[in-house]
Amino acid sequence: MSQSKSPDEIPSLYGPGKTVKRVRARHLVDAKERGEKWAMLTSYDTYTASLFDEAGIPVLLVGDSAANNVYGYETTVPVTVDELVPLVAAVARSTERCLVVADLPFGSYEAGPAQALETAVRFMKAGAHAVKLEGGRRVAEQIRALTDAGIPVMGHVGFTPQSEHAVGGYRVQGRDAQAAEVEADAHAVAEAGAFAVVLEMVTAAVAAEITKRLPIPTIGIGAGPDTDAQVLVWQDMAGMRRGRLPRFVKRYAEVADVLQDAARAFADEVRGGRFPTREHSFE
Ligand code: KIV
Repeated sequence: MSQSKSPDEIPSLYGPGKTVKRVRARHLVDAKERGEKWAMLTSYDTYTASLFDEAGIPVLLVGDSAANNVYGYETTVPVTVDELVPLVAAVARSTERCLVVADLPFGSYEAGPAQALETAVRFMKAGAHAVKLEGGRRVAEQIRALTDAGIPVMGHVGFTPQSEHAVGGYRVQGRDAQAAEVEADAHAVAEAGAFAVVLEMVTAAVAAEITKRLPIPTIGIGAGPDTDAQVLVWQDMAGMRRGRLPRFVKRYAEVADVLQDAARAFADEVRGGRFPTREHSFE
């Protein structure tokens, strides 16, 4: 715990005493020291960005999951930097307080530090406050190049959908001998200068151990209750996406039903001549 700060100086992420104007990477590291847990959501557009920002979500991720949730691709592999940059710009323009993290898509950083830097700069110029990239030890050089250039980086280890789509299906990471691999990746990311790391589909015990040992916050998705933060894709969390969801998703609303009911009601009223009425017309 940092003992030297007065209560006014302590940047709280939540609650009436919150003093942080724009959440920054260092505030999340401070939150870990205080033992304060926080939530991250994906966002890809102006309305969800401003709603989530007003709701007090301190970190929004413009994930490469826009591939599925915005562009209708089957996996995250096809989505490009050109497709993600406008979404990052929209989310950044629509928020006042949260930290906006841009996901580097498949093919935009693997070639090496120079490629990663070029891509990250495009996202930072579009308004992102930080970038995220998948991989542990294999991308440590890229993370170091970005942090040396002053770009805050969020790592992502465990199940990494961009590189594991070919394996087929979601697979829990960290069981048995794999635990050491996941831990080594998480440590490599932190040592390379990342300010936080996503642990995706890692066993709860391994995620708890990594969280205890790492100086930076861990953000779990399917990684049990003991990580410092939790992230969900908003369409999963709010019930916008239908069909079978991964076990780690909890639905907090049924937004798809609300929207579809509204669309049906509108169509019924148009067909029945009940919309528009004089109330919605100009004299
Ligand atoms: O793109 C995304 O939505 C993500 C989260 C699953 C962390 O990377």
